[in-house]
Amino acid sequence: MPSSIIPDKVQAQVNALHKELNYHAHRYYVLDDPEIPDSDYDKLFQQLEALEKQYPQLQTLDSPTQRVGGQALESFSQIHHQMPMLSLSNAFSSEEIKDFAQRISELLDQDNFSLVAEPKLDGLAISLRYEKGLLVQAATRGDGQTGEDVTQNVRTIQSIPLHLSGSEYPEVLEVRGEIFMPKAGFNTLNEKQIAQGEKPFANPRNAAAGSLRQLDSKITAARPLDMFCYSLGVVEQVHPNNPLEKHHSRILKQLQTWGLAVCPEVDCLSTWQECLAYYDDILTRRAQLPYEIDGVVYKVDSLEQQQKAGFISRAPRWAIAHKFPAEEAMTKLLAIDIQVGRTGALTPVARLEPIFVGGVTVTNATLHNQDEITRKDVRIGDTVIVRRAGDVIPEVVKPVLSKRPDNASAYIMPDRCPVCGSHAQRINEEAKSRCTGGLFCPAQRKEAIKHFASRKAMDIDGLGDKLVEQLVDAKLIHNIADLFQLSEVQLVSLERMGDKSANNLIQAIEQGKKTTLARFIYALGIREVGETTARSLANYYGTLEAIKQTSAEQLEEVPDIGPIVARNIELFFCEDHNNEIINKLLASGIHWPEIIKKEAHELPLAGKTIVLTGSLSQMNRNDAKARLIELGAKVSGSVSKKTDMLIAGEKAGSKLEKAQQLNIEILNEADMMALFANS
Ligand code: IVH
Repeated sequence: MPSSIIPDKVQAQVNALHKELNYHAHRYYVLDDPEIPDSDYDKLFQQLEALEKQYPQLQTLDSPTQRVGGQALESFSQIHHQMPMLSLSNAFSSEEIKDFAQRISELLDQDNFSLVAEPKLDGLAISLRYEKGLLVQAATRGDGQTGEDVTQNVRTIQSIPLHLSGSEYPEVLEVRGEIFMPKAGFNTLNEKQIAQGEKPFANPRNAAAGSLRQLDSKITAARPLDMFCYSLGVVEQVHPNNPLEKHHSRILKQLQTWGLAVCPEVDCLSTWQECLAYYDDILTRRAQLPYEIDGVVYKVDSLEQQQKAGFISRAPRWAIAHKFPAEEAMTKLLAIDIQVGRTGALTPVARLEPIFVGGVTVTNATLHNQDEITRKDVRIGDTVIVRRAGDVIPEVVKPVLSKRPDNASAYIMPDRCPVCGSHAQRINEEAKSRCTGGLFCPAQRKEAIKHFASRKAMDIDGLGDKLVEQLVDAKLIHNIADLFQLSEVQLVSLERMGDKSANNLIQAIEQGKKTTLARFIYALGIREVGETTARSLANYYGTLEAIKQTSAEQLEEVPDIGPIVARNIELFFCEDHNNEIINKLLASGIHWPEIIKKEAHELPLAGKTIVLTGSLSQMNRNDAKARLIELGAKVSGSVSKKTDMLIAGEKAGSKLEKAQQLNIEILNEADMMALFANS
């Protein structure tokens, strides 16, 4: 019930709300750098609205509720909107949408009205003015009355016509819509920003606003901006052959005929239930849409009915924004823990005071890596903004600096794996630190064992991924060396394991002990050491001991080994935990034939120049090339008289013809594989 005497406590609360709302509106609208999530701003706004409803005399002219948005920046010239750019009332629940429809039917005095549903695009509002078809002015919304002149910048946006299509458009046409940055463009832009050591944008809306408010339009031109139109402003002197349509949905079509872009998701509906179905549908497809949306907007379709429904101070009564649950929220960062992934990657994870965001309660969020923590300057004890969009893993967006406590402490990634204590290393440009104890680390053990047993590695028949999981889960094995200690009795204790299978597996493990050095090196699962690299290492050094004792620098001498792989190999063999396991493996009887190193001229393809062409199905081309080089061949890209042999895969073209003309020996893929097997 409205009351006339304002208690001091209420007055103080209102003053504080004014101050806080003004501060955040300035950050949001003027600086493009919001400090708190929209939903928190909305909450403060609603508190003030509620108080003003109770004490109407608090609704002073300078109240944030009386103002649409913030002030225009000084640096652009100002443009007065002949027709104000309005805002929309927000709804957050189905109930409010039902009430909206009810209100409309009361205002119109009838139940018969059509609605248009559109995505609520998350960008910034713009008003374009076309005179005689020519784009003469583009203005931001500013405070709704006065905006900024961004004509030069808007002219750089490819999807906005500089001249309308056709000839039957009004003499003056003001069209309004949303400028936004598509998600793909936003991601690329942020990658660039980070690569150039610049601060990335917090979200596509900030990126779009920041890009449009550039004083240098060349910068705007390089930014991937786009626009969808959703309403009209001033319209004068329509074309006699083409009067303005009388329904919003048809106006949108009319705008399209003039070359203006309209969101493809617009739909005509007749009931509030259909509105809710539209909302649910778009919400499920939200992540797949190429642009960000933060809700949907329902509008009465008939302009006549719109007029009848009218406006309240901030917004039309004939439209409402049905907002999605907030994807960002504020909470406390209690601690940072390290998670070790299956491949040894160390990921810092923020432990949070539980917070409801994006429709679920979130207690953990990723911080990605040390660079991200440093760049965002996130500290333990900070109040942070957490984002959970769709099914994406929640992430910490940034700290709220004004809420940072004095004792907030910076975080440095540990130099040891928290799971196994092995050294953690960042290799070259990699953003992630990794545990180097790949053979020993419990976080990596399942993957390491699966890889070890796989066909191209130790080829232990019958030891597939599922069985590895079972063995580890039953704690029968902890690492690859334990495989060779398994007994039949232990195996039989597993579910679905009969005597025969257990016996077969023990036999297969026993057979697996006889291998080659190349397979053994590959089986160790050293990062980025594939079959080909493993074979190169084996052939070059001949013994495991020699490889272990070689420095990264020397390893680079091996054909096919670059600095990153060399460093990975060195780090792997420097880690005592790995060596312990290798020693156990060797002690259990793993062996391979001695490699008799051949001089270059003794290699089977020594002195031969070979050309590879067409597509291969059993091996990728790089591996085939590496194998040929290993066997002593020189691999060339073009066929000439000097070519000794052509290997022609499927769909070989001109090179094959030329080789035939020159009478060069031609092998197909099967011949090549046979050659490899026998060499
Ligand atoms: S209609 C008279 N339609 O939402 C109504 N607005 O809070 C004018 N917005 O400033 C707005 N998508 O920036 C309308 N499909 C849509 C919209 C939309 C996004 C934004 C617009 C406006 C704000 C209103």
